[in-house]
Amino acid sequence: MQIHSAIADLRTALKNRGRIVFVPTMGNLHAGHISLMEQARAHGDTVVASIFVNRLQFGPNEDFDKYPRTFQADCDKLAAAGVDVLFAPTESDLYPEPQEYFIEPPGIQNVLDGEFRPGHFRGVATVVTKLFNCVQPAAAVFGKKDYQQLMVIRNMTRQLALPIDIIGGETVRAADGLALSSRNGYLSEAERAEAPRLYRLLNDIRDAIRNGQADTVQLENAAIAQLDAAGWKTDYVAVRQQSDLAMPKGVDVPLVVLAASRLGTTRLIDNIEV
Ligand code: PAJ
Repeated sequence: MQIHSAIADLRTALKNRGRIVFVPTMGNLHAGHISLMEQARAHGDTVVASIFVNRLQFGPNEDFDKYPRTFQADCDKLAAAGVDVLFAPTESDLYPEPQEYFIEPPGIQNVLDGEFRPGHFRGVATVVTKLFNCVQPAAAVFGKKDYQQLMVIRNMTRQLALPIDIIGGETVRAADGLALSSRNGYLSEAERAEAPRLYRLLNDIRDAIRNGQADTVQLENAAIAQLDAAGWKTDYVAVRQQSDLAMPKGVDVPLVVLAASRLGTTRLIDNIEV
C-alpha cells in the first residue's frame, strides 16, 4: 500500500489507475470501516482510503483533541484489506491556509444531528469536497451509520454535478447490536454493557411501526423516556422519511428511525431503516 500525505504526490500516484473508488475516514479503523473498503474493491480498479481528523467538523466543545489517533494500526488494517493507496494529509497539507470557502448544505444541516452539532455538516461537506478534488474518484463509499451525512453527501454530489457515484454501506455491529464506532472506545465497562439499549429501542420502534402503530411521536417519546430512565441524555429519537429526513406524512412511505444519545460523556448515534 502506498501512503501519501502531500496532495501533489497523491495526484501523481493516482494517474492511469483506472476506476478509482474512495473511502474517506478519520482513522481509528474498525470492522465497519473495513467493510466499506471491501465494497470499494468490488466497485473499481483502485481503492483509495483517507485518514484525516477534520477539525472543521468538530464543535468547540467536542472531542477533536481526544479523538483516537492510531495511525500504525490503521495502516496495517488497510493494507490487509487490500487498499491500494492511503491519503493521510497533515492539517498543513489539507489546510495550508485558513479555509475561508465552504460548502454550505441547505436546511438539512440544521435538523437532527445538525441541530445539536452546529456547523458539523458544513465542515463535513467542505472537507469531503476537498478530498474528492484531491483523489478525483469515480465512486466513493460512505456508511449508513452516519445516515444524515450520507444524505448530505449524496445531495451535494447530485446538485453540484460531481461525477462521482455515491455508494451507501450497511452498518456493521458488535454481536450485541451496538453499531461499531471509534467513539465506543470512550465507554467504561458499565457504559459498554448499557450501550446496546439504543439499537434495541430502534428495533422496538421499527417493529411497532410494522405492526401498524402510526403515532410515531408517541413512539419517539416512549423511547426517550426509557433512555432517560436508564441514565442516558438524549438529543433526539426521530422517525423520519428516508427520502428527505422530513417528518413523515404517513407510515406507508420508507421510514428511518434515527437517534443520538449520550452515555456519560460519550455521544452515540444510530439508525435503522423501516
Ligand atoms: P468516520 O467516522 O471515520 O467514518 C468513516 C466512514 O465509515 C463513514 O462513511 C462512516 O459512515 C463509516 N462508518 C462508521 N461506522 C460504521 C459502521 N459501524 N458500519 C459501517 N460504516 C461505518 O464519517 C467520517 O469519518 C467523517 O465525517 C468523514 C466522512 C471522513 C469526513 O471527515
